[in-house]
Amino acid sequence: MNIQKIFENNKQWVSERLKADTKFFENLSKGQHPDFLYIGCSDSRVTVEDMMGMQPGEVFVHRNIANVVSNYDLNTLSVINYAVEHLKVKHIIVCGHYGCGGVKAAMDTTDLGILNPHLRNIKDVYRLHKEELNSIQDDDKKYKRLVELNVQEQCLNVLEKSFVQKAYRAGSLEVHGWVFDIKSGHLVDLQIDIDDATQGLTDIYTIN
Ligand code: CO
Repeated sequence: MNIQKIFENNKQWVSERLKADTKFFENLSKGQHPDFLYIGCSDSRVTVEDMMGMQPGEVFVHRNIANVVSNYDLNTLSVINYAVEHLKVKHIIVCGHYGCGGVKAAMDTTDLGILNPHLRNIKDVYRLHKEELNSIQDDDKKYKRLVELNVQEQCLNVLEKSFVQKAYRAGSLEVHGWVFDIKSGHLVDLQIDIDDATQGLTDIYTIN
């Protein structure tokens, strides 16, 4: 697609929106009150609003390679902090996807230069779950499982933040782990039991 076509598409989109609601952009400009923070992969095939049936203003979004929540990444931390403390979102969703290139790359030994420290976060997930993952003989199943475990561990990384814990304990915030199945288009709720998943870790990570 060429750049000119994008601007034509934009004009078309504006006129369709205004046809449905003449005050659409006027209302949009008044502010945002999203209930959801979505943390997902940058993959071009995983289109947040489309697959969730969301409208502009309904979901606050952060995307990076393989939906990583690193403790050293000020970008991700700022997004989560702003969403929780200022927008007061009710749900944080960490959404991975099967067929994730970032997760695949983390399973490999290739030197990817500047990408190495980012992918290291996923290698750490592998290390934490090495026993389970190494017991899976089928490579495709192992890859899928690492996608799921990466979502689970990134949910825990979200919950380690003191401001997230405060909102979680107050009952005003839920954390969800999902996977988008690119082959079928379906969203899968991994049904991560957050209290169960954090058991044993709470002594270390609890911040009061
Ligand atoms: Co991906």
